[in-house]
Amino acid sequence: MNQPTYRFARTFAFFWAIAMSLILSLSAPVSAAEAFAPVKLQTLRSVDITASDPAGDGTRYAPDTSPLPRDFVQQPPLIPHTIEGYIVSKEFNKCMDCHAWSRAGQAKATKISITHFKSREGAEMSSVSPNRYFCNQCHVSQTDSKPLVGNTFKPGAGLR
Ligand code: HEC
Ligand code: HEC
Repeated sequence: MNQPTYRFARTFAFFWAIAMSLILSLSAPVSAAEAFAPVKLQTLRSVDITASDPAGDGTRYAPDTSPLPRDFVQQPPLIPHTIEGYIVSKEFNKCMDCHAWSRAGQAKATKISITHFKSREGAEMSSVSPNRYFCNQCHVSQTDSKPLVGNTFKPGAGLR
């Protein structure tokens, strides 16, 4: 018989586990203090992890300008205008007043992307898909603010 038997596999696994635990216990001695040392968690705004977030001073919208270039191709474009008071609720979506395909021409706004009509299962729908309905989950107003976390990201050479 070419197939390893269940019994063989079980015996093999048993000795493998013993060998591994021996190797681990020899090569990586972990002191009890190390193993139980608390993990150092930090908040984005450098307040104590147990304290509540300090109240912000509200959103400061930049004056309406032309859209900033996207940093990477898949980026949801930033919103180049204020969205103060633009309600998006279960009943009403202010954004679609200008960005729906039927309104965009008149409003001189960009039509919502064709990708926004695809359902989670990949079916093409005739109106904005529920998973793209809450626009501000992905689109935020552009503003000149200091990044909370730095990064060194550069888009791929062929995609610039
Ligand atoms: C009163 C009309 C109006 C409403 C309401 C409106 N927009 Fe706009 N939006 C525009 C216009 C006009 C532009 C195009 C500005 C330009 O290209 O200079 C634009 C541009 C944008 C862009 C940039 C698109 C690109 O080509 O880069 C995004 C993203 C956007 N809006 C999102 C939103 C979201 C999200 C909402 C709701 C919270 C919203 N807009 C509500 C008129 C509107
Ligand atoms: C799940 C994230 C997500 C949500 C929710 C979402 N968008 Fe987008 N949006 C994107 C991404 C990513 C792009 C750019 C890539 C693409 O076209 O899909 C985009 C592109 C756009 C564009 C530019 C289209 C173009 O031709 O350049 C507009 C305008 C826009 N979205 C408006 C909206 C509006 C209005 C809503 C709410 C009804 C909305 N988006 C909801 C992620 C999202």
